[in-house]
Amino acid sequence: MDKTLIVFACLCGFAAAQFNNFGSFGASSNAGAYNNYNRGQQPQNRQVQEAPRPTGVCKELNERYPVSGSCDKYVECLNGTAEEKLCPDGLRFNPNVNFNVYPCQYPNEVSCLERSALQPAQPTEQCEHQFGYYKLGDTRNCSYFRNCVNGVGYDFQCPEGLAWSSSSYRCEWPDEVDDCDAEAFLGFRCPEVPVSKELGAPAGFRYYRAENNCQKYFLCIGSKPRVLFCGTNTGYDELTNTCVSADEVPACPSELRAQAARVREEEKQLLAKELEFNAKTTNKRRNIQVILSEDAQYVRSPICQQKNGYYKVDASCDAYVECLNYQAIDMVCPDGLHYDLEAKWPGYPCGYPMDVPCVGRGAAQAAQPTAECPHQYGYFPSPLATVNCGQYRMCIGGKAIEMNCPAGLAFNPESGRCDWPDQVPSCKADDFLGFSCPAPPVDADGAPLDVVLNYKYNNNCYYFFSCAKGHARLLACDEGLAFDPASGKCIEAEYVDCGSNH
Ligand SMILES: *[C@@H]1O[C@H](CO)[C@@H](O)[C@H](O)[C@H]1NC(C)=O
Ligand SMILES: *[C@@H]1O[C@H](CO)[C@@H](O)[C@H](O)[C@H]1NC(C)=O
Repeated sequence: MDKTLIVFACLCGFAAAQFNNFGSFGASSNAGAYNNYNRGQQPQNRQVQEAPRPTGVCKELNERYPVSGSCDKYVECLNGTAEEKLCPDGLRFNPNVNFNVYPCQYPNEVSCLERSALQPAQPTEQCEHQFGYYKLGDTRNCSYFRNCVNGVGYDFQCPEGLAWSSSSYRCEWPDEVDDCDAEAFLGFRCPEVPVSKELGAPAGFRYYRAENNCQKYFLCIGSKPRVLFCGTNTGYDELTNTCVSADEVPACPSELRAQAARVREEEKQLLAKELEFNAKTTNKRRNIQVILSEDAQYVRSPICQQKNGYYKVDASCDAYVECLNYQAIDMVCPDGLHYDLEAKWPGYPCGYPMDVPCVGRGAAQAAQPTAECPHQYGYFPSPLATVNCGQYRMCIGGKAIEMNCPAGLAFNPESGRCDWPDQVPSCKADDFLGFSCPAPPVDADGAPLDVVLNYKYNNNCYYFFSCAKGHARLLACDEGLAFDPASGKCIEAEYVDCGSNH
């Protein structure tokens, strides 16, 4: 038996797992893809059925053709000599493959049509045929399957949330597998949605976070659920229907939230490390160290409990003491930064106010403003910005660098971060985005419905406005998807007419 046989053990099933796309806007924008990804991957039924030919005849030196009426017998001509052959039990002869390809394939790839005869099955204790893929479990337990090779069974399980399909020979969404009860299999029943008299049944998809896992959520298409997962350190946010950093999701366990916050913090510090002042201060410290090691006549400071370390100065937010070789040195953070009580020597001990609050710790040094900057260091609203809430300035050593938040986000002077515009009181979000959410639909009593509705963004094919509770947020479709105004969802880009608007 040719080794290649085992290799075509249908990797396509596992491609389905990759649709658990972990992008931060994953949930809302992927829904279309889930629906469409099956297209164009149906078993090949377009085989040319050649007129039956008597065996033993070769029209070409090297060729294969089916034995009349049989789906697994064929004739192989090698250098003009014909020989009748039989596919292994469980496989079928595909007349349409190139001569240099092994012609016996799994049933999902070969249509027998009128070639209906097959050799008798040669079952083993583990397998009904020598070769093939077979579903295990039942309608509530849909993910297990067995690959039979020479009558020996190897058991596998689909990626979490997917069910084995005997017809497509792949792991599929459970709602697309006939003999799988998706609700029982996933242990989730899609809640019934109240039907509004005026608007009828709600359109599109609905999402629900899993009760016991903030990174897991269900997508309901009609009444059929699919389970999806957020990526590392992200959790499912019910307001935006997206996966966001887990520290912003109260439903996530505290360890995960702390971990997500730590990762964000580390990313930020990495950035801060690149800043000029850091380099400068490090040099300064190095110089002091050199002096100290050369001059051993120092007096041990009572402040220095340890040989090297940082110590706070009461009633000051930005002064601190640095101990080097038990020698205390009065230090002060650069203007605009605060001394971080958590700092560990020899790490840089000064941080931005949004990360190192001052509350209850006294005052900082007097500001040293420049023409461009209110403090020597920090992130500040840009006086150049008018309606553009996303523009801000970063000050380094009193020099301003104009910066812009990622598209659709506004600079929040309170947190010093880029934020949703509706979270920034000083930002006129509608002017900034150039978009106002239409009034949300109302229920029978006139109360606005708590729904998320999406709208096209100008002429752009990939961005869209997502409106919840009257607030607009600019979101992007995941790669390969485009926004479909008709369904209000991101679907595979090839199904959206983007014209020249890319
Ligand atoms: C194919 O057949 C030709 C003529 O019948 C012969 O000369 C040649 O050696 C054969 N080749 C092989 C690989 O058998
Ligand atoms: C599901 O089916 C697999 C394979 O037959 C079996 O090993 C497993 O125990 C079943 N699980 C449940 C919960 O029935």
